[in-house]
Amino acid sequence: MKVGFVGLGIMGWPMAENLVQAGYDLTVHNRTQKKAEEFAKKTGAQLAHSPKEVAESSDVVITMLPGPPEVEEVFLGEGGLIEGADTGTLLIDMSTSSPMLARKIAEVVREQGASALDAPVSGGDVGAREGTLSIMVGGEEEDFERARPLFEAMGKTITHVGPSGAGQVVKAANQIVVALSIEAVSEALVLGSRGGVAPEKILDVLSGGLAGNRVMEVKREKFLSRSFEPGGKARYHRKDLRIALESGREYGVALPATALVEQFFGALEARGDGDLDHSALLRLIESLTGS
Ligand SMILES: NC(=O)c1ccc[n+]([C@@H]2O[C@H](COP(=O)([O-])OP(=O)(O)OC[C@H]3O[C@@H](n4cnc5c(N)ncnc54)[C@H](OP(=O)(O)O)[C@@H]3O)[C@@H](O)[C@H]2O)c1
Repeated sequence: MKVGFVGLGIMGWPMAENLVQAGYDLTVHNRTQKKAEEFAKKTGAQLAHSPKEVAESSDVVITMLPGPPEVEEVFLGEGGLIEGADTGTLLIDMSTSSPMLARKIAEVVREQGASALDAPVSGGDVGAREGTLSIMVGGEEEDFERARPLFEAMGKTITHVGPSGAGQVVKAANQIVVALSIEAVSEALVLGSRGGVAPEKILDVLSGGLAGNRVMEVKREKFLSRSFEPGGKARYHRKDLRIALESGREYGVALPATALVEQFFGALEARGDGDLDHSALLRLIESLTGS
């Protein structure tokens, strides 16, 4: 199986590396060509100069891009994947994008005799490096089965959740829970610190009870060291909450707390902290208290 990969960022690079290690013959493309050249040099992958060229030389193409505008451009824009896809090509978007766009892409791709899956992930940069991502997949069952060996090279929990768009719906739900958890832990830490209790003590105690959650575990070092190297960028998490809110409008669902935390992430971005890890929301909550 010849595999194409577009988008070699924090997540895409290690995911593509895991595919090479699993023995797949890879063709790669990235907006900043230099990154793709470095990847090809390191792994022996082939280079392509456009998404179209990637699709022309692949049976399956995977994309890992920032969000909906880039996904739309790479799939449907000039020189896009759709121009190079053949009958039987399978196009898989693993970016966090919109369910509505995923359904639109699936329709356009199907009209061409090719097929598409939306397969966003959770598990962060660590999961991408270790090949332990959770992958939630929307699309046809037979396309899912065809892609399964690729997913198994990149992830551990692989679930077909429904038709086209369903993967992105589950990812939006995931991002609501993660964002609101980061917000809650941040408030707890600021309250604790102001009350004279060390942050590590708060995390230790809360982790052992009903309040315990994975955010406390995975982001612990960032909260304590106050070094917010990404990881998952705050501005991408804001993008994810916007997708959730847009989906809420589409399905007639009220998401009031999501709307509030989207505004908090917006304020964090306005402070110039958008490229920090999403756990840097702590800084904003602190600033509300004058710390
Ligand atoms: N990081 C996480 O912890 C995490 C976890 C789960 C899901 N996600 C999701 O995964 C996706 C990728 O995240 P990331 O952290 O890997 O982002 P990232 O580091 O910004 O990587 C995005 C990559 O896409 C490339 N790109 C952008 N537009 C392109 C285009 N038109 N054609 C070709 N390549 C293009 C970028 O190229 P340049 O080199 O030119 O910038 C960059 O290499 C996002 O949707 C994010 O929400 C991230």
